[in-house]
Amino acid sequence: MVKKYVYGNPIETNAVVSQIEQEEGSVQYLSEIEINDKIIFNYAMESDDIVYGLGEANRGMNKRGGLYRSFCSDEPYQTEEKQSLYGAHNFIVVTGMISVGFFIDCASEVKFDIGYTSSDMLNIEPGCKDFTLYIIEGKSAYDIVKQFRELIGRSYIAPKWAFGYQQSRWSYMNEDEIREVVQKHRESGIPLDAVYLDIDYMDGYKDFTVSEERFPNFPEFVKEMREQGIRLVPIIDAGVKIEEGYEIYEEGKQYQLFCKKADGSDFVAGVWPGRTHFPDFMNTNARMWFGSKYKVLIDSGIEGFWNDMNEPAMFFTEEGIQEVKAYLDNFDFNTNEPGKFFELKDKVLSLSNSMKDYCSFYHNMDGNIVRHDQVHNLYGANMTRAAGEAFNQIAPDRRILLFSRSSYIGSHRWGGIWTGDNQSWWSHLLLNIKMMPSLNMCGYLYSGADLGGFGANCTRDLLMRWLGFGIFTPLMRNHAAEGTRRQECYNLGDTEDFRNIISIRYSLIPYLYSEYMKSCLNNDMMFKPLSFEYPTDNFARTVEDQLLVGESIMIAPIYEQNAVGRYVYLPEDMLLVVFKSSSIRRYQIMKKGMHYISATINEVPLFVRKNKLLPLCRTTQCTDNMDTSMFEIIAYTDDNIEYLMYEDDGISKDYDNPDNMVSFEVKAVDGILGAVSSKTIVKLSLF
Ligand code: GLC
Repeated sequence: MVKKYVYGNPIETNAVVSQIEQEEGSVQYLSEIEINDKIIFNYAMESDDIVYGLGEANRGMNKRGGLYRSFCSDEPYQTEEKQSLYGAHNFIVVTGMISVGFFIDCASEVKFDIGYTSSDMLNIEPGCKDFTLYIIEGKSAYDIVKQFRELIGRSYIAPKWAFGYQQSRWSYMNEDEIREVVQKHRESGIPLDAVYLDIDYMDGYKDFTVSEERFPNFPEFVKEMREQGIRLVPIIDAGVKIEEGYEIYEEGKQYQLFCKKADGSDFVAGVWPGRTHFPDFMNTNARMWFGSKYKVLIDSGIEGFWNDMNEPAMFFTEEGIQEVKAYLDNFDFNTNEPGKFFELKDKVLSLSNSMKDYCSFYHNMDGNIVRHDQVHNLYGANMTRAAGEAFNQIAPDRRILLFSRSSYIGSHRWGGIWTGDNQSWWSHLLLNIKMMPSLNMCGYLYSGADLGGFGANCTRDLLMRWLGFGIFTPLMRNHAAEGTRRQECYNLGDTEDFRNIISIRYSLIPYLYSEYMKSCLNNDMMFKPLSFEYPTDNFARTVEDQLLVGESIMIAPIYEQNAVGRYVYLPEDMLLVVFKSSSIRRYQIMKKGMHYISATINEVPLFVRKNKLLPLCRTTQCTDNMDTSMFEIIAYTDDNIEYLMYEDDGISKDYDNPDNMVSFEVKAVDGILGAVSSKTIVKLSLF
């Protein structure tokens, strides 16, 4: 049951697709106070209520005890106290004796104080008076999430090849460097499906250009890579370089498609290319124009993109520089006044991503002129929309891979997300684990983090353990920043363990893809907290570092350095499968309760749920060669069970065709269990 309350005159965010009648009268569940022209909602939490949600947000799965500010931010140092990350996803569910969901559909910032100021009080503070509040009632948190997902519409569907392993670095500088990456993976038998092109593939960081010096015959090179089973995935940045004669700049200027300052001139901010203009993604014409530009790369054979710097991130503005310059000019460097140099440092650092700058430019929302800060959270989402809508025109019959750094609910219908610039820290592996269910709650199913960590130097063991989790996330991409230690598997010692771990992913792809597709098509979650499946199990409610992945398995990743195992809570009897490679495994039936399980650095444990079935295919070097005619079945059962596997060509869009369902059944015939399927079953491991 969804109730809609409209405050003031909200800006259309496009988050919601269902038509819901507006409620009259006062809201239920929340008390409402007006302070300083702002509305604050309060909710009195019971001491054991859990608060799930906020999508791409910091801290735990249970958000209690923290402050959060939904304001898309370029935040690479995600330490515990940080309140804003790259996405803004204002959906939460409070669950305990009763469960209720709140979605604050608001284009500007929204603050959530979830038991921080007062441990049992939840406060929600929208940054403006024009927004829509949705209150969702349901019998459980999971039920509320499914209703919410229906409200916001079907998630973007990625091509199947994007479930392969992907290698990235800022940047592989030219054709030969990329050839080397591919060759080293192939030589060492580490599967690989894609290599990323970071900003240096462009000519002077100009969107939709390719450097002729580094890539003299780009379409030819894209083809050469395709023949080796590799897709190249270029980055597209939000800022358009200001340069006379550069087509995108000239057109944007001529047709008034850039964001403007109050005096009507085009807003200027410094990003990678130097001085840039930001396309006005809030404007339909600008979206259509920018989206149409992807065609030049698609025509060169490109099948996927990542949209970046679209919070938008700004290193400086000219006004900001002038202000700092004036401050420095007047600064008395002989001063001994305490705190003065600290103030100076803050002043210089405030140059990038400053609120003052966000309040200094405007969008033309099809005739309605709006200051940026009021729609800040929609900017990146509308860049995703620009690309997603264009792809439906440019390549209507096939899927193009698309994911973005910045996002707002609604953009999940046009693309996925990656979680931005994390660090090579063990705590960020744990953050990645905890974030997956929250992302799924908000519709972001094709998602993942930079495996191994983007900033800082990665170690071999961190990458191994991170891959041990990453083999389950739809986006499985190793990405690292310029200047950091080389993080490709073959640069971190003996490759055999890496080959083995990634080969497990390839044998799991049919299952993972199937669970992903079913989640997309049924507005469901692929990654769930245990409490969503075992709501009456009080201990399961407290578990933050184990996840259900699809209907058949539970995972308990190891995320601490030097650990040789971990404690795992089993909410029911399960079958432990410890993978050393796709084919070398050990099994153990385990009873409900707490257990210590051992898993050395090169082992990946997973748990098959009772009376569920896990199909595995033979591992391959890339998804092009995947053979899904033969399967091995692992099942822990004493009964007849069935698994419905979603399988299609992975590229066309005939999603709802009933022929896409393949059934695997384990049946007792004369007291003996056997399996049947239209697929060949090469091995049956029944427990
Ligand atoms: C941003 C992106 C990162 C990319 C870098 C250079 O920091 O988040 O992934 O590598 O820009 O383009």
